[in-house]
Amino acid sequence: MWLVCDHDPVRAERLRKYLEKQGVQVRVATKEEEIPNTWAEGKLALFLGGWNPATVQHVKNTLGLPTLYCTLDTLAPEQFEGLRQQGYDDVVPYPPAVEYARRWERSVNAENHTTLASLVSQRRKTTYTAYVESKPFQPPAPTPRRATVICVTGVKGGVGKTTMAVLLANAMVARGKRIVVAELDPYGNLANLFRVERTVTADRFETLPDVLTDPELEQNMLRTPAGWWLIPKGDRPLGLSKDGVARLIHLVGLYADVLILDTHAGHLMSTVVAMREADRVLGVTTADRTTWTDLRAFLHMSERPAYLVLNRVRERPRKAAAISAFLQKEIGFRVAAIVHEDDTLYHRVQQGLTPLGSRKTNVRIHQLIQTLSISTKEAKSHEA
Ligand SMILES: Nc1ncnc2c1ncn2[C@@H]1O[C@H](COP(=O)(O)OP(=O)(O)OP(=O)(O)O)[C@@H](O)[C@H]1O
Ligand SMILES: [Mg+2]
Repeated sequence: MWLVCDHDPVRAERLRKYLEKQGVQVRVATKEEEIPNTWAEGKLALFLGGWNPATVQHVKNTLGLPTLYCTLDTLAPEQFEGLRQQGYDDVVPYPPAVEYARRWERSVNAENHTTLASLVSQRRKTTYTAYVESKPFQPPAPTPRRATVICVTGVKGGVGKTTMAVLLANAMVARGKRIVVAELDPYGNLANLFRVERTVTADRFETLPDVLTDPELEQNMLRTPAGWWLIPKGDRPLGLSKDGVARLIHLVGLYADVLILDTHAGHLMSTVVAMREADRVLGVTTADRTTWTDLRAFLHMSERPAYLVLNRVRERPRKAAAISAFLQKEIGFRVAAIVHEDDTLYHRVQQGLTPLGSRKTNVRIHQLIQTLSISTKEAKSHEA
């Protein structure tokens, strides 16, 4: 049984349901008083939010439970160390990956009783976070990146991030460039859309060597019928780790002219790294106000030039321009393209065909490419 300590009862309840669905029995404590003094069935404690270090110590020493801190944010190495000093054995991202956290469970079986000290000293127990923070990916040598890296992102699902990534790739591959689309969304569907077998996935970039020849890299990507390369989503439920994304961007960055990162709508580790590593960030939204709430703060996670795309617009040109101007003012980033609701494209996708925009849409996509000034690197393009 796991102890979930969270002062926020709603979140604690949600986490309890999430864990129980995965076969973990849970006891919730929202106050210090609710933490038991002895608890034989206890195997692990998860803390969310701020807790008194004395409480953490109590759980650790009196109850003898391994204590994990569950974070909603990406942590800097100092913060990670700070949490370790407060007594947490490990830090896991929220929602916690059960498989991972289980490795920390106190063994109730006295035969092979695992002591806390042995848990802490076991090297393979370094977390996702600790791993990422202690062995950050370092490119083998400071090689200048060849590719322009574009991160397509947004706070809401279904606004057309993936469509935008595909339309950009189609348009740029037509100019004879080496284009790679990496699907960083663990819920994505690009391989199906392009009817390619997912024989390789983004997960490989967790472990690939830091130096690869072009043919070796190509073996880790799929060529789509459209002519660009696809790195389909992996199987990790929370997407790639910080290192995995960084290595992917590094390796493909040396190979491609343009690397397009199709991200998940939300604060996954892969989204955060993609936004911070990209040369340009494209925030996709629709004219529906609910798709822009929080977009401003979201795009500010990146320090890179960010642009907006107003997609699926049904309004007439004048109204659309007014919405665009308002959006620009509200969010604080330039609207680089207004793309209308494209029935041809929509019906193609509904029929299971690959997204191809109408002429009108493609004009907008070309304007977008110009605004992003990806052409600056055109000189470096392959002769082939
Ligand atoms: N300009 C457009 N005109 C018509 N349909 C569009 C347009 N842009 C996107 N769509 C359709 O909207 C749906 C959602 O698009 P898409 O999958 O690209 O969104 P997304 O932001 O990537 O979603 P998710 O967050 O689920 O990954 C798809 O069916 C797509 O075909
Ligand atoms: Mg998508």
